[in-house]
Amino acid sequence: MPILAELKRLLPPQGLMLEIASGTGQHAAHFGAELTGWRWQPTDFDPASLPSISAWCGDLANVLPPLRLDVLTDPWPCELPHTVDAMYCANMLHIVPWACTAALMPGAARQLSSGGVLITYGPYLEEGVPTAAGNLEFDADLRSRNPAFGLRQLSMVEVEALAVGLHLQRRVAMPANNLLLAWGRLRANSVA
Ligand SMILES: C[S@@+](CC[C@H](N)C(=O)[O-])C[C@H]1O[C@@H](n2cnc3c(N)ncnc32)[C@H](O)[C@@H]1O
Repeated sequence: MPILAELKRLLPPQGLMLEIASGTGQHAAHFGAELTGWRWQPTDFDPASLPSISAWCGDLANVLPPLRLDVLTDPWPCELPHTVDAMYCANMLHIVPWACTAALMPGAARQLSSGGVLITYGPYLEEGVPTAAGNLEFDADLRSRNPAFGLRQLSMVEVEALAVGLHLQRRVAMPANNLLLAWGRLRANSVA
């Protein structure tokens, strides 16, 4: 899986990962099995997803039992690990209202350790980069289902990230016109 190859490139050999919007749990199962130095905490907004995540990941000792997390709750549940080395959020930002992006970034800034990284994956719109026809169709379809949904303009996501001290460290073009983005938290000792 191409995402796995990028995670291996980006992440240190071990750490604690907080996954946002795990969905069925298939990503947690795949990455948990391959990134054996990582403990993986899956979460999802939908309580109905949690049994599916448990079923996918039940055999993996390094994948923790799933927790419910709605990124819009403030504060985030105290059951979550307080400080994590990385966060992973795939295919969520375009399929939730914009407020979820605005909530994800401060959440990540709170949870990430110094030098930690938030990885987001999915389709985006970018100024100066022609949008693939498939992504335009996907965007129109999402907006027809819910006007609050839709592909996000990367520059607007970046504004939310920068406001809480996260900067775009890496942009990787992925198959099917997706991007894998790594948002870094400045190390405490690198802040003036
Ligand atoms: C398209 S699925 C992506 C699932 C998985 N990450 C993947 O790539 O297959 C979007 C997920 O976002 C979750 N979600 C929706 N609103 C959310 C919120 N407010 N906070 C956290 N997750 C949310 C949904 O429950 C759903 O599992």
